[in-house]
Amino acid sequence: MTTQRIAVILRNGQPDETVTVQGWVRTKRELKEFAFVEVNDGSAMANLQIVIDPKLSNYENIVKQLNTGASIEVVGVLVASPAKGQRIELKASMVIVYGDADPQTYPLQKKRHSFEFLRTIAHLRSRTNTYSAVFRVRNACAYAVHQFFQERGFLWVHTPIITASDCEGAGEMFSVTNFDLTKIPRNDTQQIDFSQDFFGKPAYLTVSGQLEAEVMAMAFGNVYTFGPTFRAENSNTSRHLAEFWMIEPEMAFCDLEGDMDLAEAFLKYIFKYVLENCREDMEFFNDRIDNTVLATAENMINNQFERLTYTEAVALLEKADKQFEFPVKWGLDLQSEHERYLAEELFKKPTIVTDYPVGIKAFYMRLSDDEKTVRAMDILAPKIGEIIGGSQREERLDILERRIEAQGMNKDDLWWYLDLRRYGTVPHAGFGLGFERVVQFMTGMGNIRDVIPFPRAPLTIDF
Ligand code: 4AD
Ligand code: MG
Repeated sequence: MTTQRIAVILRNGQPDETVTVQGWVRTKRELKEFAFVEVNDGSAMANLQIVIDPKLSNYENIVKQLNTGASIEVVGVLVASPAKGQRIELKASMVIVYGDADPQTYPLQKKRHSFEFLRTIAHLRSRTNTYSAVFRVRNACAYAVHQFFQERGFLWVHTPIITASDCEGAGEMFSVTNFDLTKIPRNDTQQIDFSQDFFGKPAYLTVSGQLEAEVMAMAFGNVYTFGPTFRAENSNTSRHLAEFWMIEPEMAFCDLEGDMDLAEAFLKYIFKYVLENCREDMEFFNDRIDNTVLATAENMINNQFERLTYTEAVALLEKADKQFEFPVKWGLDLQSEHERYLAEELFKKPTIVTDYPVGIKAFYMRLSDDEKTVRAMDILAPKIGEIIGGSQREERLDILERRIEAQGMNKDDLWWYLDLRRYGTVPHAGFGLGFERVVQFMTGMGNIRDVIPFPRAPLTIDF
């Protein structure tokens, strides 16, 4: 007989069915007539209640070991449950304890622990209600991402993790080297001699798969990446990770309007999928974490996003009846507080800001005829701020070369990227969705370190 998942048993199990379950003990209660054990296997928020009859052979020895955290297998027969709040329970005919967990030292006690504490036990925290719900929702989001693009004929392409180019031009890259760091070779002028390094030149962990996605879009039309990206920005915030996952679609023969339409449809699709497939977990977040997440999700699915230009956004921010910490002025980048004001307070829904000043955006964005702005778009979400960053790309060779030089970059390093503009160039566009930010937005989790199993951030790498 194969093992069944508890989620399936709770949904479909019928009295008199014999089943085997495997999981970890959440709680134990010993009464005179029976011992009751709640077991969880991660498939659902709810536990399955196991009823153990003292007549079971070796009863005392087994029950003694069934402490919170112990791993067990139970064979038994399902019976209708007299207890309220559960339809069915399992009457054990055999219990195997694989590994016990000493109640004196097991860190997950029955009481509520703070997220700060749980971050220090990242190897165990997935066994709690909150984190197991987060990672089920994260899984559902990932599935929805692939389903959305695959249904539309986009090709999933795998872009490199080690790269020689700084896509965003922000210089926030981690170096990749196999030099012995105590004996780094230097040339006559005391510069590091990268010709002796593994790749023969400086190499980094990628900040974005976009440049390579553009290559693939010039052969397949519509593609997307879904992979890890790395940024060495020293920002200890609740919205930044040093390692995060990004989804980057890239579309040939597409302009900024098409890009925004796809991004909006994409976010709506993910939210709809999660509401339909993770109802129990979403209700948990709504009850326990943030009582607006269900309404926010519905609102997001059913309403058009707000769209306005950067210039219009700055005018609204200047008029705002609010003291901002950072200055608002045409030409300066929007800070998180400005983004949140727009999405959270003013429009109360996801907001797309377009046409940013050329001076604050990456070299690859398409220059507008006014030569002051580029065809960029950021999607701002209530509570989170920027969740998507995208643009129409500069497809004209001469202008792109000018932009690369203006940013102090070397166009020879990007010869292959420029070749795309030499051979069969087309208008094209794409965007990047921060995967953890969307999971944060969906679940209402306040800190991005709580929506990825093993967060990487400044001074944070223990697990
Ligand atoms: O706006 P960004 O920097 O855009 C790009 O990387 C483009 N190459 C995307 C493209 O057009 N293909 O990053 C995209 C998104 C942000 O909107 C944000 O959601 C997320 O990535 N992001 C981060 N998420 C977590 N931690 C960080 N340090 C992040 N930096 C960016
Ligand atoms: Mg951005």
